[in-house]
Amino acid sequence: MTQPKNPMRNKPVVAIDGPAGAGKSTVARGLAKALQYAFVDTGALYRAVAFIADASGISWDDGPALAQAVLRHAFHFTADGTLHMDGVPLGGEIRTSRISSGASAVARHPEVRTCLLDVQRGLGREGGVVLEGRDIGTVVFPDAEVKFFLVATVAERARRRWLELREKGESISLAEVEAAQEARDRADMTREVAPLRQAEDAVEVPCDHLSAAEVVAHMRDYIAAKFPAGPDSF
Ligand code: DC
Repeated sequence: MTQPKNPMRNKPVVAIDGPAGAGKSTVARGLAKALQYAFVDTGALYRAVAFIADASGISWDDGPALAQAVLRHAFHFTADGTLHMDGVPLGGEIRTSRISSGASAVARHPEVRTCLLDVQRGLGREGGVVLEGRDIGTVVFPDAEVKFFLVATVAERARRRWLELREKGESISLAEVEAAQEARDRADMTREVAPLRQAEDAVEVPCDHLSAAEVVAHMRDYIAAKFPAGPDSF
């Protein structure tokens, strides 16, 4: 029987990392639903920090002030994966292209990352959770029982994101989305603390030309092969 890497858990932690627009949220949500696990979209936390900064006049460059502001708020995720700040759901207001850039900017500060590390580890402590982000398998839960790293071409990721933004009524060209996405990937991969990279023990999942349902099916097959008696059996 496979043992959990951490005795605090009776169910696995599933880590899903990858660049912007690879479809992490959709597949993480789908996988969590299939396994009946909680779903945690960690990018929403960084988006919330950029949102708080804009609302309170704090610069995205001021790490210590951002971290202090984070500590004044309470965060929790509901079963459907929606982030609530002080009991209020955060929706479209943290999904704009301005907040996407802001989230990447605030995410480079060690002070901000340290505050959010505690929040994320608290949410996954007991297992039975799918967390998606940039550093889940490398920093937040390096001992996660299951790690996936999603990859897709820049063109495909930009196309998906552009369609999403258009649906929300944001008027932006595909070329602008692609440029913003590339800048964000560069920032996320080259920052000093917890840069986006694939954990050595993560399974790479190429997502171009695959639907979210197909990616989820692939992940479920992998988990079924890894835990033949069921993922909750250890
Ligand atoms: O997944 P997303 O696009 O909502 O994430 C927004 C930004 O937050 C992303 O550009 C980098 C940052 N982020 C991070 O640094 N670490 C995470 N675990 C998740 C997101």
